[in-house]
Amino acid sequence: MSEDVMSRTKANDAPTGAAPAATGAAPAPYEPVVLAFTCNWCSYRAADLAGTARVKYPPNVRLVRLMCSGRLDPTFVLKAFASGADGVLMTGCWPADCHYRIQNVKALRRFELLRRVLGQLGIEPERFQRFYASAAEGRQLAAAFTRMIEEVRPLGPLGWGRLPEVAPGVETPAGAVEGETAAGEAAPADEDATTDTRALEAVGS
Ligand code: FES
Repeated sequence: MSEDVMSRTKANDAPTGAAPAATGAAPAPYEPVVLAFTCNWCSYRAADLAGTARVKYPPNVRLVRLMCSGRLDPTFVLKAFASGADGVLMTGCWPADCHYRIQNVKALRRFELLRRVLGQLGIEPERFQRFYASAAEGRQLAAAFTRMIEEVRPLGPLGWGRLPEVAPGVETPAGAVEGETAAGEAAPADEDATTDTRALEAVGS
């Protein structure tokens, strides 16, 4: 996750009632950071259209472009929350319009499942939403961005970004050691994990 997202989130996480900075300036009001995963063929172009048509949407929505919503690995969503995002929006083509046939239908199934899992972890449904937008629906997408920010703001900061990380070599509850297989060998490099990092590092750029 980029420094930009983290620094803004940390500023937002300042406890209410904290003493104002030495300059005497009032603390900035809390603004949630929402990550919107977009499909290259539809929703990313819709966001582009909103920009060229000068349709306003909140600047605290950060776009991550994927080739298809079907590429949205659930770990991207978990990593986004763990890196400081207060909400995640999955966007993509309408069901019959996916350029990769039924990948967005598969994405919808994963979305519903992941939303249930996140609910079990105490994450409100407003923090993880989806929206379909064709390339011509810039206004609708901008309205969805605005609506989501307004729904997430009253929930306050999620605060997952403040969780301590497990240090290398520390035993996990299952007895496995971070970075090693059960046999004690170094875990093989995961290509998808590399892709995940690249996608998430694009946030805020
Ligand atoms: Fe847009 Fe699949 S190509 S969701």
